[in-house]
Amino acid sequence: MRMDFTIQIPKQILFGEGTVKEVPQLAKEFDAKSGLLITDPILSKIGLTKQVLEPLKETGMKIDLFDQVEPEPTLKSAEQVVQFARKSVYDIVIGLGGGSSLDMAKLASISITNPEPITDFVGVKKVRKPGIPKILIPTTSGTGSEITMNSIISNKQEHLKMGIVSPHIIADVAIIDPLLTLSMPPTVTASTGLDALTHAIESLMSIDLNPFCEQLANKAVRLIFQSLPTAYSNGSDRTARQEMSLASMLAGISLAISGVCAGHAAAYTFTVTVPHGVGCALTLPYVMELNAPSCLPKLAAISEAAQVNETRENNEKNAYNAVQAVRKLMEKVNSPLSLKQIGIKETDIDSMAENILKVKRLLAHNPKTLTIEDTRPLFNRMFKGTALPLSDYKKIN
Ligand SMILES: [Fe+2]
Repeated sequence: MRMDFTIQIPKQILFGEGTVKEVPQLAKEFDAKSGLLITDPILSKIGLTKQVLEPLKETGMKIDLFDQVEPEPTLKSAEQVVQFARKSVYDIVIGLGGGSSLDMAKLASISITNPEPITDFVGVKKVRKPGIPKILIPTTSGTGSEITMNSIISNKQEHLKMGIVSPHIIADVAIIDPLLTLSMPPTVTASTGLDALTHAIESLMSIDLNPFCEQLANKAVRLIFQSLPTAYSNGSDRTARQEMSLASMLAGISLAISGVCAGHAAAYTFTVTVPHGVGCALTLPYVMELNAPSCLPKLAAISEAAQVNETRENNEKNAYNAVQAVRKLMEKVNSPLSLKQIGIKETDIDSMAENILKVKRLLAHNPKTLTIEDTRPLFNRMFKGTALPLSDYKKIN
């Protein structure tokens, strides 16, 4: 467990039902005369965008709308956002939506102050100057984008995701209003909720876990096991929505500080065409199994948070129970458990097993150093949906 760590998260986080109403006041505090709202076409269609736009217009602020963010934005679609943002002068950027919209709002903010092409920002700390102030408002419960310093772009040519990772893109304010998640359909509730679970569990497995994140992530795991099935089956249950929003925030903070590991790295090899949450969830039980011998006590602790622990002494059995509990939760919310199920071809296994090894930024957090000898069988199991038996959970001495 790391006893040295840095916390880089938004300066202000507003959590609670109705907090979205604070946007005009916050814009005033930033002395913003003109703003850009970035979102996706669905939120405009269902009228959620109006909840942010109208009160701002009433204050006399000039506010432009870009509502063409695509799911899993490609470089080409990111360029369209940047072009739009650089066309006028803005004092503030507001991102509203799921991870893709929030990631694009972060990118817009730094693109206004940094004239370079987007590809120059890809990597860790490649952005020279802070962006203009940004307020990020999630309408899903899971991606954690409102908290982190990451903005992810799909590279279709290389079949990989590229990360812009910079403290300059952290939100100035994150507004987490659970009421905005009530309109989320069950499939999105499941995929984003499981993404949050992946953030929590992967940050717990991370070699950069610290005592602060350990508390947050375990609480997030507990809340997700408790509330995701209800939020999925009854989207208007406000308690379940509130708990999922809280879990997502806690998991997002843990991810932002301790990092995620092989699960997200594996997902980056095929989520160019598959939604991020679906892909990350799919990898989770397999990566937990793979890492189990290297971090048994941590997985055993997850069994407590998931309330499936049997005995304090037997780490192997409890770690095994934790993995099976994740599988059961995924089944409950109809989340796919194999690559085969989501249309990935068996012939792609070799390239995915090689591509994951390129995601060094995330694999650096993994408790087990991976080679092609690990990743080929890993993708084979993920393809077929094969679980490892309890006998494979033996601790490495
Ligand atoms: Fe994620």
